[in-house]
Amino acid sequence: GELPGVNELGEAIRILSDSENPQSSQDDLSDFEYLRRKAYDLAHQSFGNRIYIRGLIEFTNICKNDCYYCGIRKSNSHVDRYRLTMDQILACADEGYVLGFRTFVLQGGEDGGFSDEAIADIVRCIKERYPDCAVTLSFGEHPYETYRLWRMAGADRYLLRHETADRVHYERLHPDSMSYDNRVRCLYNLKSLGYQVGSGFMVGSPYQTPVNLAEDLHFLAKLQPQMIGIGPYVPHKETPFAKMKQGTVRQTLVMISLLRLMFPKALIPSTTSLGTIAADGRERGFMHGANVVMPNLSPVSVRKKYELYDNKICTGEESAQCRGCLDRRAEAFGFQVVVDRGDPL
Ligand code: SAM
Ligand code: FES
Repeated sequence: GELPGVNELGEAIRILSDSENPQSSQDDLSDFEYLRRKAYDLAHQSFGNRIYIRGLIEFTNICKNDCYYCGIRKSNSHVDRYRLTMDQILACADEGYVLGFRTFVLQGGEDGGFSDEAIADIVRCIKERYPDCAVTLSFGEHPYETYRLWRMAGADRYLLRHETADRVHYERLHPDSMSYDNRVRCLYNLKSLGYQVGSGFMVGSPYQTPVNLAEDLHFLAKLQPQMIGIGPYVPHKETPFAKMKQGTVRQTLVMISLLRLMFPKALIPSTTSLGTIAADGRERGFMHGANVVMPNLSPVSVRKKYELYDNKICTGEESAQCRGCLDRRAEAFGFQVVVDRGDPL
């Protein structure tokens, strides 16, 4: 049915996120556990115990933007900047294919060093070599015509988190050179071009209130994306927000569950940032309704350079080790990682 208004919904999010919350109103379960079971059951009805994997290729850490929260922002002079070559990117895909990946996510900072045509070429090459795979781009804001070029080149999906649906909050997280309106315009352009669209937000980002999170849910209800990526805000020591509090596991799990209730068939990853703030974070994400995980396929030599936040996990492992590790972790919680493109149902 209808979503509650943002004030009412915000209050519910606030109470659910409070680990001191004593109330148990549903069959003696805490509201938090009741919500988890509902979300878990819905995910199970849609996907069974199947977890989809996406191979993440972090192809550049060069960025023209300066988001206050992000470790690879342009003002961070401590970053050792890199760009992968076409051959390096294809080698990541080759390795991933053998490991059972059928979706490749090309993610990068907004690096003007790649022309629109160069990105189109990369997409075409991967699609030619692996026609049974989906290619997802996660490369920030671009004009409609550029998104169209990449779509024509074969890109199937695009990930662009809206980050926050509250305009004033958006402006506190980003410098004046970035605009909330453009972010939203990009998302609707991507939709109209026939991409499968992923959006999402950070949980516990600086200055965020529970009402902001309610606004995020309202925004997503309107946008109706196929994929929704959320994860806790985690500070990075070389950013203006270095001293800000990180998001909590509890609130992230609450938001994953609420998203699952709203979108029973959506593709919802249990993110690396959740796995970073808690050793069992990604597994708990699955138990609260998530059904996707995005292991790192980037060359080990660059992984530590794509540091969006402090202490990011899985930066020292080979791709094969990550695949094996995730399989075992998922199985321990009753899930099965599958070889599948994982398209929307
Ligand atoms: N440049 C592209 C974009 O902006 O969409 C893709 C790369 S960007 C680094 C990917 C995501 O990382 C962002 O959407 C943001 O939500 C997340 N991120 C950045 N800094 C973070 C932090 N400190 N903690 C948690 N997530 C962060
Ligand atoms: Fe990378 Fe476990 S997922 S080591």
